[in-house]
Amino acid sequence: MVKIAPSLLAADFANLKDEIMRLNEAKADAIHLDIMDGNFVPNLTFGPCVVKAIRPYTKLPFDAHLMVKNPDEMLEWFALAGADIITVHAEVCKHLDKTIDAIHALGLKAGVALNPSTTENTLEYVLDKLDLILVMTVNPGFGGQNFMENQIAKIAKIRKLIGHRNIILSVDGGINPMSASEVKAAGADMLVAGTAVFEGGNYAANIKALR
Ligand code: DX5
Ligand code: ZN
Repeated sequence: MVKIAPSLLAADFANLKDEIMRLNEAKADAIHLDIMDGNFVPNLTFGPCVVKAIRPYTKLPFDAHLMVKNPDEMLEWFALAGADIITVHAEVCKHLDKTIDAIHALGLKAGVALNPSTTENTLEYVLDKLDLILVMTVNPGFGGQNFMENQIAKIAKIRKLIGHRNIILSVDGGINPMSASEVKAAGADMLVAGTAVFEGGNYAANIKALR
Protein backbone atom coordinates (compact mmCIF):
# COMPACT_ATOMS: atom_id res chain seq x y z
CA MET A 1 0.00 0.00 0.00
CA VAL A 2 1.22 3.48 -0.86
CA LYS A 3 2.63 5.48 2.07
CA ILE A 4 1.30 8.94 2.93
CA ALA A 5 3.61 11.64 4.30
CA PRO A 6 1.65 14.75 5.32
CA SER A 7 3.55 18.00 4.79
CA LEU A 8 3.48 20.18 7.90
CA LEU A 9 3.52 23.23 5.64
CA ALA A 10 -0.28 23.06 5.56
CA ALA A 11 -0.64 22.52 9.33
CA ASP A 12 -1.69 25.10 11.91
CA PHE A 13 1.72 26.48 12.92
CA ALA A 14 0.25 27.83 16.18
CA ASN A 15 -0.68 24.26 17.21
CA LEU A 16 2.07 22.02 15.84
CA LYS A 17 2.06 19.68 18.84
CA ASP A 18 -1.67 18.90 18.39
CA GLU A 19 -1.28 18.62 14.64
CA ILE A 20 1.48 16.03 15.02
CA MET A 21 -0.57 14.00 17.49
CA ARG A 22 -3.60 14.12 15.18
CA LEU A 23 -1.49 12.87 12.26
CA ASN A 24 -0.40 9.93 14.43
CA GLU A 25 -4.02 9.00 15.03
CA ALA A 26 -4.88 9.48 11.36
CA LYS A 27 -2.34 6.75 10.44
CA ALA A 28 0.15 8.86 8.53
CA ASP A 29 3.32 6.92 7.59
CA ALA A 30 5.85 9.74 7.94
CA ILE A 31 6.00 13.48 8.59
CA HIS A 32 7.33 15.61 5.74
CA LEU A 33 9.15 18.76 6.89
CA ASP A 34 9.48 21.50 4.27
CA ILE A 35 12.58 23.50 5.13
CA MET A 36 12.82 26.65 2.99
CA ASP A 37 15.57 29.26 3.13
CA GLY A 38 14.17 32.20 1.12
CA ASN A 39 17.05 31.69 -1.30
CA PHE A 40 16.76 28.38 -3.15
CA VAL A 41 13.01 28.93 -2.99
CA PRO A 42 11.10 32.20 -2.58
CA ASN A 43 9.68 31.35 0.85
CA LEU A 44 10.85 30.83 4.43
CA THR A 45 9.52 28.19 6.82
CA PHE A 46 11.18 26.77 9.93
CA GLY A 47 14.46 25.27 11.02
CA PRO A 48 15.95 22.69 13.39
CA CYS A 49 14.58 24.33 16.58
CA VAL A 50 11.03 23.62 15.47
CA VAL A 51 11.92 20.10 14.33
CA LYS A 52 13.47 19.39 17.74
CA ALA A 53 10.42 20.83 19.55
CA ILE A 54 7.94 18.55 17.79
CA ARG A 55 10.14 15.41 17.83
CA PRO A 56 8.86 14.08 21.19
CA TYR A 57 5.23 13.90 20.01
CA THR A 58 5.48 11.14 17.42
CA LYS A 59 7.49 8.06 16.57
CA LEU A 60 6.78 8.53 12.86
CA PRO A 61 9.86 9.07 10.70
CA PHE A 62 10.72 12.68 9.94
CA ASP A 63 11.70 13.42 6.35
CA ALA A 64 13.41 16.82 6.21
CA HIS A 65 13.05 18.16 2.65
CA LEU A 66 15.81 20.77 2.48
CA MET A 67 14.88 23.45 -0.05
CA VAL A 68 18.02 25.39 0.76
CA LYS A 69 21.02 26.56 -1.20
CA ASN A 70 23.66 25.16 1.16
CA PRO A 71 22.38 21.82 2.51
CA ASP A 72 25.88 20.52 3.32
CA GLU A 73 26.19 23.09 6.11
CA MET A 74 22.86 22.07 7.64
CA LEU A 75 22.89 18.26 7.60
CA GLU A 76 24.14 17.93 11.16
CA TRP A 77 21.60 20.49 12.47
CA PHE A 78 18.71 18.38 11.23
CA ALA A 79 20.29 15.09 12.33
CA LEU A 80 20.62 16.47 15.88
CA ALA A 81 17.05 17.81 15.75
CA GLY A 82 15.71 14.31 15.10
CA ALA A 83 15.33 13.87 11.34
CA ASP A 84 15.34 10.26 10.10
CA ILE A 85 15.66 11.03 6.40
CA ILE A 86 17.31 14.09 4.89
CA THR A 87 16.36 14.91 1.32
CA VAL A 88 18.53 17.38 -0.58
CA HIS A 89 17.96 18.97 -3.97
CA ALA A 90 20.21 17.71 -6.79
CA GLU A 91 20.23 21.24 -8.25
CA VAL A 92 22.31 22.70 -5.41
CA CYS A 93 24.70 19.85 -4.61
CA LYS A 94 28.05 20.36 -6.32
CA HIS A 95 29.14 16.92 -5.13
CA LEU A 96 25.89 15.03 -4.73
CA ASP A 97 27.71 11.75 -4.13
CA LYS A 98 29.61 13.27 -1.18
CA THR A 99 26.48 14.86 0.29
CA ILE A 100 24.73 11.48 0.27
CA ASP A 101 27.74 9.95 2.05
CA ALA A 102 27.64 12.76 4.62
CA ILE A 103 23.95 12.06 5.38
CA HIS A 104 24.71 8.36 5.82
CA ALA A 105 27.68 9.16 8.06
CA LEU A 106 25.21 10.91 10.40
CA GLY A 107 23.29 7.63 10.62
CA LEU A 108 20.33 8.82 8.52
CA LYS A 109 18.65 7.81 5.29
CA ALA A 110 19.47 9.92 2.25
CA GLY A 111 17.03 11.29 -0.30
CA VAL A 112 17.47 13.36 -3.44
CA ALA A 113 14.77 15.71 -4.75
CA LEU A 114 14.41 16.80 -8.37
CA ASN A 115 12.74 20.04 -9.48
CA PRO A 116 10.26 19.65 -12.36
CA SER A 117 12.86 20.85 -14.89
CA THR A 118 15.60 18.51 -13.66
CA THR A 119 16.23 15.30 -15.58
CA GLU A 120 16.19 11.92 -13.84
CA ASN A 121 19.58 11.16 -15.49
CA THR A 122 21.25 13.12 -12.71
CA LEU A 123 20.46 10.15 -10.42
CA GLU A 124 22.09 7.43 -12.49
CA TYR A 125 25.46 7.28 -10.73
CA VAL A 126 24.14 7.69 -7.18
CA LEU A 127 21.29 5.18 -7.40
CA ASP A 128 23.19 2.46 -5.59
CA LYS A 129 23.49 4.58 -2.46
CA LEU A 130 20.08 6.29 -2.36
CA ASP A 131 17.27 5.54 0.10
CA LEU A 132 14.64 7.89 -1.35
CA ILE A 133 13.93 9.87 -4.52
CA LEU A 134 11.55 12.83 -4.29
CA VAL A 135 9.97 13.91 -7.57
CA MET A 136 8.65 17.47 -7.32
CA THR A 137 5.37 17.82 -9.18
CA VAL A 138 5.26 21.59 -8.53
CA ASN A 139 8.03 24.15 -8.47
CA PRO A 140 8.99 24.09 -4.79
CA GLY A 141 8.27 27.04 -2.50
CA PHE A 142 4.56 26.98 -1.74
CA GLY A 143 1.75 24.60 -0.88
CA GLY A 144 -1.53 24.54 -2.77
CA GLN A 145 -0.10 24.66 -6.31
CA ASN A 146 -1.40 22.68 -9.28
CA PHE A 147 0.01 19.23 -10.02
CA MET A 148 2.25 19.17 -13.13
CA GLU A 149 1.05 16.37 -15.40
CA ASN A 150 4.31 16.30 -17.38
CA GLN A 151 6.06 14.77 -14.36
CA ILE A 152 4.16 11.48 -14.72
CA ALA A 153 6.57 10.36 -17.44
CA LYS A 154 9.52 11.15 -15.16
CA ILE A 155 8.03 9.12 -12.31
CA ALA A 156 7.60 6.12 -14.62
CA LYS A 157 11.19 6.45 -15.89
CA ILE A 158 12.56 6.61 -12.36
CA ARG A 159 10.52 3.55 -11.36
CA LYS A 160 12.35 1.67 -14.13
CA LEU A 161 15.74 3.08 -13.16
CA ILE A 162 15.22 1.94 -9.57
CA GLY A 163 14.66 -1.67 -10.65
CA HIS A 164 15.08 -4.00 -7.67
CA ARG A 165 16.86 -1.47 -5.50
CA ASN A 166 15.32 -0.67 -2.12
CA ILE A 167 14.58 3.01 -2.82
CA ILE A 168 11.38 4.84 -1.86
CA LEU A 169 9.90 6.72 -4.81
CA SER A 170 8.14 9.72 -3.30
CA VAL A 171 6.16 12.44 -5.07
CA ASP A 172 5.56 15.96 -3.71
CA GLY A 173 3.30 18.80 -4.85
CA GLY A 174 -0.34 19.16 -5.84
CA ILE A 175 -1.25 15.66 -4.66
CA ASN A 176 -5.02 15.13 -4.30
CA PRO A 177 -7.10 11.97 -4.76
CA MET A 178 -7.10 12.48 -8.55
CA SER A 179 -3.39 13.11 -9.08
CA ALA A 180 -2.65 10.44 -6.45
CA SER A 181 -4.10 7.69 -8.62
CA GLU A 182 -2.05 8.80 -11.66
CA VAL A 183 1.11 8.98 -9.59
CA LYS A 184 0.51 5.55 -8.05
CA ALA A 185 -0.10 4.07 -11.49
CA ALA A 186 3.24 5.53 -12.62
CA GLY A 187 4.99 3.69 -9.78
CA ALA A 188 5.21 6.01 -6.77
CA ASP A 189 5.27 4.37 -3.34
CA MET A 190 5.04 7.46 -1.15
CA LEU A 191 2.85 10.55 -1.55
CA VAL A 192 3.62 13.85 0.16
CA ALA A 193 0.53 15.99 0.63
CA GLY A 194 -0.15 19.23 2.46
CA THR A 195 -3.44 20.76 1.35
CA ALA A 196 -5.15 17.42 0.63
CA VAL A 197 -4.40 16.06 4.12
CA PHE A 198 -5.23 19.16 6.18
CA GLU A 199 -8.20 20.68 4.35
CA GLY A 200 -11.54 20.23 6.09
CA GLY A 201 -9.90 18.86 9.24
CA ASN A 202 -10.69 15.12 8.89
CA TYR A 203 -7.11 13.93 8.48
CA ALA A 204 -7.91 10.20 8.69
CA ALA A 205 -10.52 10.42 5.93
CA ASN A 206 -8.25 12.60 3.79
CA ILE A 207 -5.35 10.16 4.14
CA LYS A 208 -7.63 7.25 3.31
CA ALA A 209 -8.88 9.06 0.19
CA LEU A 210 -5.28 9.50 -1.01
CA ARG A 211 -4.42 5.82 -0.51
C1 DX5 B 1 6.40 22.48 -1.97
C2 DX5 B 1 6.63 21.53 -0.81
C3 DX5 B 1 5.53 20.55 -0.67
C4 DX5 B 1 4.20 21.20 -0.39
C5 DX5 B 1 3.08 20.30 -0.75
O1 DX5 B 1 7.45 23.39 -2.01
O2 DX5 B 1 7.82 20.83 -0.97
O3 DX5 B 1 5.82 19.58 0.30
O4 DX5 B 1 4.05 21.60 0.93
O5 DX5 B 1 1.90 21.00 -0.56
P1 DX5 B 1 0.59 20.66 -1.40
O6 DX5 B 1 0.25 19.26 -1.09
O7 DX5 B 1 -0.40 21.65 -0.90
O8 DX5 B 1 0.96 20.88 -2.85
ZN1 ZN C 1 8.25 19.02 0.33
